Amino acid sequence: MNQKLGEEHVRISVVVLAAGLGTRMKSKLAKVLHRVGGMSLVEHVVRAAMDLTPASEITVVVGHQAEDVRDQVAPLGVNFIHQVEQQGTGHALLSCRESLHSTPGLLLVLYGDTPLLSAATLRRLVDRQRRHRAAATLITTHLDDPAGYGRVILDDQGHVRSIVEQKAASPQQLSIRLINSGIYCFNAALLWKHIGEIRPDNPANEYYLTDIVDILHRHGHCVQALEIKEASELLGINTRVDLAVVDKVIRDRKARELMLAGVTIEKPETVTIDAHVTIGPDTIVEPNVRLLGATSIGEDCRIGACSVIESSRLADRVTVGPMSIVAETLVAAGARIGPFSRLRPGSEIGPGAHVGNFVELKNTKLGAGAKANHLAYLGDADIGDRVNVGAGSITCNYDGEAKHRTGIGAGAFIGSNATLVAPVTIGEDSYVGAASVITKDVPEGALALGRARQVVKEGWVRRRRAKKQD
Ligand code: UD1
Ligand code: CA
Repeated sequence: MNQKLGEEHVRISVVVLAAGLGTRMKSKLAKVLHRVGGMSLVEHVVRAAMDLTPASEITVVVGHQAEDVRDQVAPLGVNFIHQVEQQGTGHALLSCRESLHSTPGLLLVLYGDTPLLSAATLRRLVDRQRRHRAAATLITTHLDDPAGYGRVILDDQGHVRSIVEQKAASPQQLSIRLINSGIYCFNAALLWKHIGEIRPDNPANEYYLTDIVDILHRHGHCVQALEIKEASELLGINTRVDLAVVDKVIRDRKARELMLAGVTIEKPETVTIDAHVTIGPDTIVEPNVRLLGATSIGEDCRIGACSVIESSRLADRVTVGPMSIVAETLVAAGARIGPFSRLRPGSEIGPGAHVGNFVELKNTKLGAGAKANHLAYLGDADIGDRVNVGAGSITCNYDGEAKHRTGIGAGAFIGSNATLVAPVTIGEDSYVGAASVITKDVPEGALALGRARQVVKEGWVRRRRAKKQD
């Protein structure tokens, strides 16, 4: 509950404002639900805050698509307040007053649309606030293009006098390049005492949180500015252009982190690796790969160009050839996938198994050293160790109404173009002849043939030609 800073303990609470729709996104989806680096904007901000204080001290203000926003961060253990009508950032914070007004210490206010914010910067902010014992400290930076941001007006002593929103700014104020990042640290008691004085007297008719600065100043309190040189960290996302810019920053960071930890990434600017992905050293990631969701990849693997791997676990020494798609699948050590393989959810590939080109697996277990190298569909199947599935073989798992399973015992050999009609079981060490349609179980060690016997008519061509000439 307490954060140790210097000698003293101070309680730090955090409010994350995430109730707005974000009209400039031109989207049906609430802004904070858009994703960068594979994580929603709001989750990025909450996670940065969690580096400073326990989740139980964090409150997220939700409004637009409140349920979906809750779902994103509720598993982290944070609290929520519902802002029913979105009447501005000041109004959003005001809606927390009832539940938070008696919490002592410091209150950090963050906007849910600044996903690059680091915990280190938040720590500097808290530290600065504590040392100066100000009523509030806010993070500012100089931007070459300050359009869209509130402008920070300083007094002679370099303290913040007020913040003027873009829409309300005079031409002279618009030329100010010192901007409000929307990241504040308040003396909680003073904030709750005065927040009710914010009035919606601006062209947008909104309660601007930024007006609190002028209010505190008028009551004789000092508001400090912490100027940050690394402005990119403060980027607030308002449009899809901002979204792409920030996504690139996060992807670059992630790739760099992995490379410094021993992963080779060829043409890193072309790969997409989500925030939670882990990769072991000496693994090689080829160009245009996408590694998504909760994917983990072991050591000494190779992920081929243009492959997409989502929420899957690959052990050490796995090779994925180019153009393969792997989703919600476990791949054991030394297995070889691709090129052009598709592994669908619920599949498990055993150690050293091979899945080759144009082979699709769904909810299928492939045993150790088993092979399905060409043109196969294996759905809802349990395939034993060392089984060989010939080119073009398929499991018919669907009868038009229900799905059924196919079992293939260890060491069995399935000839090319076999059609295994589920539910059916092929015994261990048995053979299924090429092009067989198998509808009945095959016992262990047997040969099963389910095709028309071959007929040879000798001299047939000669007789046919002779007939034609008559
Ligand atoms: C805000 C600041 C501006 C600052 C900029 C930094 C105000 C008035 N202006 O402007 O000074 O330079 O951020 O990025 O604060 N929200 C709610 N409820 C509401 C309105 C907004 O929860 O009623 C949330 C939004 O979901 C968003 C955040 O507050 O996450 C910021 O809102 P936004 O509309 O993006 O503010 P800006 O116009 O960018
Ligand atoms: Ca914004």
